[in-house]
Amino acid sequence: MAKTQKRKSIKKNNLVSMSDISQDDLFQIINLTKKIKAKPLLKSGFLKNKSIALIFAKPSLRTRVSFEVGIRELGGQAITIKMDEISVGIRENVEDIANVLSRYVSAIVIRTYEQNQIEDLGKFSSVPVINGLSNEEHPCQVIADLFTLSEVFGKLSGLKLTYVGDGNNVAQSLLLACALANVNISIACPKKYEPKLIFLEKAKEINPRIKIELTNDPRLAAKGANALYTDVWTSMGQEKEQEKRKKIFASYQINDGLLSCANKNAIVLHCLPAHKGQEITGKVFERFSSIIYQQAENRLHAQKAILLKLLDK
Ligand code: CP
Ligand code: NVA
Repeated sequence: MAKTQKRKSIKKNNLVSMSDISQDDLFQIINLTKKIKAKPLLKSGFLKNKSIALIFAKPSLRTRVSFEVGIRELGGQAITIKMDEISVGIRENVEDIANVLSRYVSAIVIRTYEQNQIEDLGKFSSVPVINGLSNEEHPCQVIADLFTLSEVFGKLSGLKLTYVGDGNNVAQSLLLACALANVNISIACPKKYEPKLIFLEKAKEINPRIKIELTNDPRLAAKGANALYTDVWTSMGQEKEQEKRKKIFASYQINDGLLSCANKNAIVLHCLPAHKGQEITGKVFERFSSIIYQQAENRLHAQKAILLKLLDK
């Protein structure tokens, strides 16, 4: 049996990292996403009389709204809390917050800086904890991205995804997600901005059969790609480095030249928000805007599928 299939199912029903889920879990979530997109009112009573806490230490449009709408469409109530209202680690510690919230709500979604804060919440909480983005990972995003790829190409296995730009949270979760989904992945980043080695190692461990390439040459990475993917050069929390990063990343832009290195029918994905003229030209964005908005729409359908999978008893 393939190594990916031997991995155990979601630990404690958390989605703290993409490595929390098995290949089966991922495919189940993707299939559920497809069903829900086709029938948005499917399971509309699933969260009846249930509440879910959404904690945000960073700004959000897509993650917050798609979870809030998704929870409502499943019959539940979202309680959105700004991190500074509860001052995690200052007003009280993560353990107490996790224990108290577990007695009020059926799941906790959290967007914060430190991955270990989400891990701690997951450890102490008795309800599922979902990573809504940390400095290290963005699992909910990449699940929706894989679903989008499967919609466009009708399959996942054997595709090549090329990520160009900063080896950040999205890139790191993509590495793990592609490994789970049998998608070959090539990442082109400037030196010193590569994903952390541990994510490359984990991806190889999850699936030794896919091709994982890390290069400083975006053109090399784009060769044979079915999809080019990028994200902002400066992530939330790195604003002070913005000017420096604009120089370092200047040649890591998705533009017509780079696109011509990919497959003829290649698509372009962007998790948004986009900074047109930086990581992607306005022209390329415009050309692929319908698929990029489809990718954003799929966040809603995927959030519902993630909740259905994690909260299913
Ligand atoms: N892609 C994404 O997570 O968007 P937000 O930061 O707006 O939630
Ligand atoms: N890497 C970006 C992703 C935004 C969805 C950030 O962390 O700001």
